[in-house]
Amino acid sequence: MSDFERLLGFVESETDFATSYYDDSYLDRRVSARMRRRDADSYAEYLSILEDEESERAELLDTLSVNVTQFFRDQKVWTALRDVLVDETDDGSVAVWSAACADGREPYSIAMLALDAGIPPRKVDILATDIDEDALDRARNGRYESTRTADIRDQLDFLDNPLEYVDRQGDRGFEVADHVKDLVTFERHDLITDDPKSGFDLVCCRNVCIYIDKQYKRPILDTVSASIRPGGHLVLGQTETLPSGVKEGFEAADPRIRIYRRQPVE
Ligand SMILES: C[S@@+](CC[C@H](N)C(=O)[O-])C[C@H]1O[C@@H](n2cnc3c(N)ncnc32)[C@H](O)[C@@H]1O
Repeated sequence: MSDFERLLGFVESETDFATSYYDDSYLDRRVSARMRRRDADSYAEYLSILEDEESERAELLDTLSVNVTQFFRDQKVWTALRDVLVDETDDGSVAVWSAACADGREPYSIAMLALDAGIPPRKVDILATDIDEDALDRARNGRYESTRTADIRDQLDFLDNPLEYVDRQGDRGFEVADHVKDLVTFERHDLITDDPKSGFDLVCCRNVCIYIDKQYKRPILDTVSASIRPGGHLVLGQTETLPSGVKEGFEAADPRIRIYRRQPVE
C-alpha cells in the first residue's frame, strides 16, 4: 500500500468523508494543498500531522468537501429554466429536486426564479438534498455573506429586483426572505447509496459528478433519472455529460446547456 493510500485510509476511518467515492487526482490536489500549507514534504509526514492534530483533520475535511456554489450559477441555464418552470406550471404545479444542493444557493435560485416568473407559490415544491449535514444547516439558515471572490449582490443581479427575495444584513450579508424559504425543504440524501425518489418534473444534479470517482457516476445518474417522471427535465453542470446507458433514456432539450428531457415510456 502506498503512503497516499495509507493517508486516504486514515481519513476514511477517522472522519465522515468517504474518500473512496472521489477521483484520486481530485483527492491528491486537495491533500497536496494542505501539505503545502503545513510544509509537509511527503504523504507520510502529513499523515503523522493528521494523526497528532485534530484541528488539521478538520482543516483537511473542510478542504475535501467541495461545496462551491453560487446563486444563478451559469446564467444562460437559468434563462432556459425559467421557460421550463413556466411551461410546467401552465396547467399544474412543478416538483423540483435540487440534488447535491450544497449550501442552498441553487434551490433558492430556483424558488426566486419561479416567483420572479409570476408562478404562484402554491404551484412550486422544491426538495433540496445533500450528503453534507453542515452544508444543509447553512442552507436552512439561508444567510450568505459576500467575500473577496464571491459577490452575492452580483450573483443575484440575474433578477431585476433581487431585494424582493432577500433581506439585506449589514454591508455584505443577505438573508433569503421567508416567502422564498417556504418553497424549499432540505433533507440529507446520499446520491450513491440512498434510494431514488420519484415523480419529479425537474431535477438539477449539477457539479457533483465532476468530483466523483468514475465508477460512482453511473449509480448517481441512475438514481437521478429514476426520480424524474417521463417527459420531465434533467439539468447537469456545464462540463458534465450523460454516460451511455443513461443517455438513451433522454433527449437533449438543449444540449449546449445540458438540459435533457426524459423520454416518455413506450
Ligand atoms: C460543487 S457542489 C454543487 C452545488 C450545486 N449543485 C451547484 O452546482 O452549484 C457539490 C455538492 O455535492 C455534494 N455531494 C458530494 N457527494 C455527494 C453524494 N454522494 N450525495 C449527495 N451529495 C453529494 C457535496 O456535499 C457538495 O455540496
